[in-house]
Amino acid sequence: MSDSIPPAADVREAVAAIRREEPRVPEVALVLGSGLGDLAEAAEAARAFPTAGLPGYPHSTVEGHRGRLVFGRFEGREVVFVQGRVHLYEGHPVRAVAFPIRLVHALGARRLVVTNAAGGIHPLCTPGTLMFITDHINFAFANPLVGPNRDGGPRFPDMSAPYDPAWIDRAEAEALRLGIATRRGVYLWTRGPSYETRAEIQAFRRLGADAVGMSTVPEVIQARYLGMQVLGISTITNYAAGLHPDPLLHEEVLRVGRQIREDLERLVRGVVRMGA
Ligand code: HPA
Repeated sequence: MSDSIPPAADVREAVAAIRREEPRVPEVALVLGSGLGDLAEAAEAARAFPTAGLPGYPHSTVEGHRGRLVFGRFEGREVVFVQGRVHLYEGHPVRAVAFPIRLVHALGARRLVVTNAAGGIHPLCTPGTLMFITDHINFAFANPLVGPNRDGGPRFPDMSAPYDPAWIDRAEAEALRLGIATRRGVYLWTRGPSYETRAEIQAFRRLGADAVGMSTVPEVIQARYLGMQVLGISTITNYAAGLHPDPLLHEEVLRVGRQIREDLERLVRGVVRMGA
């Protein structure tokens, strides 16, 4: 089904701009979260496109997020790294937040690995934990599919298993093989940019959230609409608000992200290497 979806005009222009210089068709797209962007440096024979030069691509303004699409070989496969993640809290419409996903899909990617930084709510989701996302809660109440159904997918796409359960099983087995500890959990999306209050975190805990963050969900909704297979990995960078006496600082989120980058890189390498 997904192969027959023609990209809408805005995406077609960006595809054309890339295709003039880069003929490789990525098999896997990797969206890199806060402080994890430099994973793209690991790509071989890489070619980078600043997202500012791509028609229709929204501007990323966050410190720690570089706006680039990087094509290259990674663990023997053609991949595209999305370093140009954009967020709702930057003021972009939610449809723009999902633009990079529509673009990588139109470029040929059928599998998506999303990473993010998140606050840990579950007591076992302590800073430094890698968590496979098993499901999400859309607490930003925004959806990139609102509006005319322009991209040829279902009007009411199923979201009963957005994160491929079989892929999680295999990725978990790979993590075990690599000696990397991981957990599974539910990710809750908030609009931001302020971090949560203590009361909100207590409420989210009761709702069933294990981790909280400001990204990923709109991208995953878009990807599932397009029929992509999705794996999500959260890097728990901090205790969620009120679960630790210290206030939350973006610098701390970036610091822990950098600390765990090595394990995350090994895990993502393993996931890409093992294939579909
Ligand atoms: N809350 C929301 N977003 C986040 C957090 C958090 O605690 N940590 C990293 N991103």
